[in-house]
Amino acid sequence: MATNDRITITLNGSPVELPAAPHETLLEVLRRERLHGCRESCGQGVCGTCTVLMDKRAVATCILLARLADGTEIETVEGLGVPGDLSVVQEAFVQEAGFQCGFCTPGIVLSATQLLREKPHPTDDEIAHYLAGNICRCGAYPEIVSAVHAAADMLAAEQGTGAR
Ligand code: FES
Ligand code: FES
Repeated sequence: MATNDRITITLNGSPVELPAAPHETLLEVLRRERLHGCRESCGQGVCGTCTVLMDKRAVATCILLARLADGTEIETVEGLGVPGDLSVVQEAFVQEAGFQCGFCTPGIVLSATQLLREKPHPTDDEIAHYLAGNICRCGAYPEIVSAVHAAADMLAAEQGTGAR
């Protein structure tokens, strides 16, 4: 339960209590924990570079007061995989070069992961619709769509129970 200066969340699978002043956003709180995959760009809830999954929903952390995340389950890109042990979706983005500068990539990978949990074989239109909140300023959209399809195929081949 939130106190004046702390919140309790499940962060990448582990329960944690984090410092969070009443005015602080979830983005500020997570970056202080060195979760730098969560990035600020527009700061207005428009571009999606600050995306995390909160209770299996993509949210813009730059406009979300940290206190509103109290008691929720938060997934950041660091919780999906790490170098040498990437998630299937991360592997697919590497394989298909689904990025250029990479600034948008953590948010897009998280959104794509949740999409594939909900819809294992999305169409191009469904991918575009689901990722509409994640802007790629490099315009790597064709490769991003290819990466989501590749991840879907890889997950199906693994006969896994869902994207991680
Ligand atoms: S930085 Fe949060 S949506 Fe753009
Ligand atoms: S890869 Fe550069 S913003 Fe998307």
